[in-house]
This record gives sequence, C-alpha cells and structure tokens, in this order.
Amino acid sequence: MAELIVALDVSSKTEVEQTVDRLGDAVSFYKIGLELFSAVGPDVVRAVKNRGKRVFLDLKLHDIPRTVERAVSVGASLGADLMTIHAAGGKAMIQAAKNAALAAGAGAPKILAVTILTSLDQSDLDDLGITRSVAAQVEALGKLACGNGADGIVCSPREVAAMRAALGPHALLVTPGVRPAGADVGDQKRVATPAQAVADGSTHLVVGRPILAAADPCAAARAIAAEMAGASRC
Ligand code: C5P
Repeated sequence: MAELIVALDVSSKTEVEQTVDRLGDAVSFYKIGLELFSAVGPDVVRAVKNRGKRVFLDLKLHDIPRTVERAVSVGASLGADLMTIHAAGGKAMIQAAKNAALAAGAGAPKILAVTILTSLDQSDLDDLGITRSVAAQVEALGKLACGNGADGIVCSPREVAAMRAALGPHALLVTPGVRPAGADVGDQKRVATPAQAVADGSTHLVVGRPILAAADPCAAARAIAAEMAGASRC
C-alpha cells in the first residue's frame, strides 16, 4: 500500500519536534530536506528517528562517487530510510550510493534518484546541451538510475503513469505535488489528488502544506491516508 510522507518544511529542531509530536500516530514517515538539514544538522534526523518515525533524507546528492558513497554511509548511520541522489551523477555514482546503502545491512536506506528537477523546462535543457525532450530525459535518467541500483525515483504526478510503465512494477515512485480535491495548490503547478497519484502508480506521496497548514493537521493527514488506502494502482 502507498505511504504518506510529510515534508518537514520548518526551520528549527523545536518546530520539528512539535510537528512530529502533534501528528502522533497519524504520520509515521517524514521528509527532511536540504534546508532543514543544513540549518539543524544530523541531530534533526536523530530527533525524528528517536520518536519511532521513518525518515526520507532528501539531500539530492550529486558529486564524485567516493563522496556520494561516504555521504550515503553517514545518512545510513543516522537511520535514514530513503535518500536521494541525482541520476545525472552517472552510473558509477549511482552504484556507489547503492553500495554504501547495502553496506549498512539491515535497515539500509533505499536510494531514490532525482531525474529532471521540476524547476527546469525545455529551454533549460537546451542551455545544458540536452537535446531530448524533458519527458524523454526523465525516462532515460530513470532507467539509468534503476538499471544501476537505485530503488526508484522522485517524480511529479504528471510523470507517474509513464514512469511506472517504463520502470516496471517494483520501482519506488515518490511523488510530491499532491493536493486533496479542493485544497489550495499554493505554488504547485501540476498537482494530482492522492487517489489519482496512487492509481497512477505512486508508492509514496510527499505532502507538506495541506497537512502542516491545516486547522487540524492530524485530521488532514488521516484523510489523505484514507484516500490513498482507498485507491488502487491501475
Ligand atoms: O507543501 P507541499 O505539499 O507543496 O510540499 C511538497 C514538498 O515536496 C516540499 O518539501 C517540496 O520541496 C518537495 N518537492 C516538490 N516538488 C518537487 C520536488 C520536491 O514539491 N519536484
């Protein structure tokens, strides 16, 4: 069954602890991104893990293989359950990340690849000398990543169905940009409902503001989880 991950888009350890405590049993998986990790440091991962929760450590690593390998080892030692790398780091880097994760043994983090950031469009690819379409480049990078040890990719709601078809039934597809029907979309441009994303093949949905900014965050999280549970993959 698809899982809900709540994005901890807050800026201090105190806010993290308050958020996780407030959501209690309603949420068991949290995303810690680069901004929060840079501000608070590794302690923020420990704070969430110490509360019995799982952590998606979304640092989008992209460096030489040895450096990424060591960074994944650090994330694994902190107890991260999911970590991100950039597929554009290439085969050796992807394999190094996976090897570091496997070396952690039981509880090793799963490795997710980022393909093309949703902030980039066709003209950005042109600037980079990439002649494929965005969709073709996402698919090529997704296949490169999963063919070299990555467990899945991060993808937008718009990409989920195509990536499920391209990567097969076992790839993790982790999807932000999810909004319950009628919710404020904020700055997200290409949203899908939780039910649609799961039906298209997402295994994990990353949701921030629709839960964190709700009048009753617990109820909002439970409603999204219930909608996910009621949806089935196409
Ligand atoms: O508040 P909201 O539900 O839009 O938060 C979504 C989370 O997913 C944020 O942490 C955001 O940075 C992240 N994200 C995203 N779109 C991407 C990649 C990550 O919204 N393409």
